[in-house]
Amino acid sequence: MTRYVVIGAGAVGLALAARLHLAEIPVALVARGASLDVVARDGVRYTDPTGTRAVAVPVADRAGTRLAPDDVLVLTVKAQQADDALGEWAWQPVHDPADPHALAADLPVLVLQNGLATEAQALRRFATVLSASILVPAQSLEPGAVAVAAADPAAVLSIGLAPDGTDARVDALVADLQRAGIAAHSTDDVLPWKALKLLGNVNNAVELLGGSDEERKALSRELTAEARTVLEEAGLEPADGAERDEAVGRIRIQPTEGWEPGRASTFQSVARGASSVETDYLNGEIVLLGRLHEVPTPLNAALQRVVGASFARGEAPGTVTVADVRAVAAR
Ligand SMILES: NC(=O)c1ccc[n+]([C@@H]2O[C@H](COP(=O)([O-])OP(=O)(O)OC[C@H]3O[C@@H](n4cnc5c(N)ncnc54)[C@H](OP(=O)(O)O)[C@@H]3O)[C@@H](O)[C@H]2O)c1
Repeated sequence: MTRYVVIGAGAVGLALAARLHLAEIPVALVARGASLDVVARDGVRYTDPTGTRAVAVPVADRAGTRLAPDDVLVLTVKAQQADDALGEWAWQPVHDPADPHALAADLPVLVLQNGLATEAQALRRFATVLSASILVPAQSLEPGAVAVAAADPAAVLSIGLAPDGTDARVDALVADLQRAGIAAHSTDDVLPWKALKLLGNVNNAVELLGGSDEERKALSRELTAEARTVLEEAGLEPADGAERDEAVGRIRIQPTEGWEPGRASTFQSVARGASSVETDYLNGEIVLLGRLHEVPTPLNAALQRVVGASFARGEAPGTVTVADVRAVAAR
């Protein structure tokens, strides 16, 4: 039976591991630092609109995780951490009595990062890469604890093979996720779904900016419009989200203890004092595509620059403002 080895005990990894374990689907969580200690001692503290549960998910660090031939790796680290994690895992042994040479790179790996970069990083080492766009309102501000502001479904995923296609492994994953209360569908063209997600994620760092709500909303609209133009020029037409809502299911946000709106994963990184933010893989992906296809991206480049420099200076959310971003874009 497939076991999902979830690498990265943050918001997405904790939520996914808890839901799979609650559905009695084999799962092993790979954690490090304080998360490892807390989950090993107390389980995952999983809060959703129905309440809080301690979920006793099996957990270990990489050295303590013995891979088996039926394992599927699930990468739930941030995009800027993915290449390192893939490199750490690819050449680890798999304990397969039928094949003494088996390595992790022979196992399927599901990559869940926002942005468009992880698939190529994974394909550099792994032969079978499953790629997904994931919608999940998950917040983790303390080690081992996650609040997900939706139930049934807790998340919505579009999953296919990278770079394209679909197969029985994707179908099996979709079925397991559905058993775990997560809506999912398989697609033979996952890239448009990743592109659609990126249109929203170019706004993640806007939550870190000072200014009025109106100013932030206007900037977000313009960032998304600029991103859409670039994606279309690059031949990456975003998928139609309304179609998926209809056919697969949609997230319904409900009041949930420990979850506050307007705190997407970049905000959570800064609030936790993380050592890096994902902006170079979100706004930076649009900037990269713009440079490759000769499309100007002044707003995405300005946001990436202003937030990157503010993070490097160790500033708190709200220190740099919408006006700072507009001033850099106008230069
Ligand atoms: N949060 C959401 O609601 C949400 C929704 C949709 C998509 N996403 C996307 O999903 C991805 C994951 O986001 P997230 O919010 O779950 O990030 P996160 O909370 O920062 O979690 C990432 C976790 O991975 C751990 N990690 C990093 N490298 C590792 C390694 N080599 N080995 C073991 N653990 C490692 C990190 O540990 P350290 O803290 O020690 O670095 C952290 O606990 C991102 O691409 C994000 O954009 C997030």
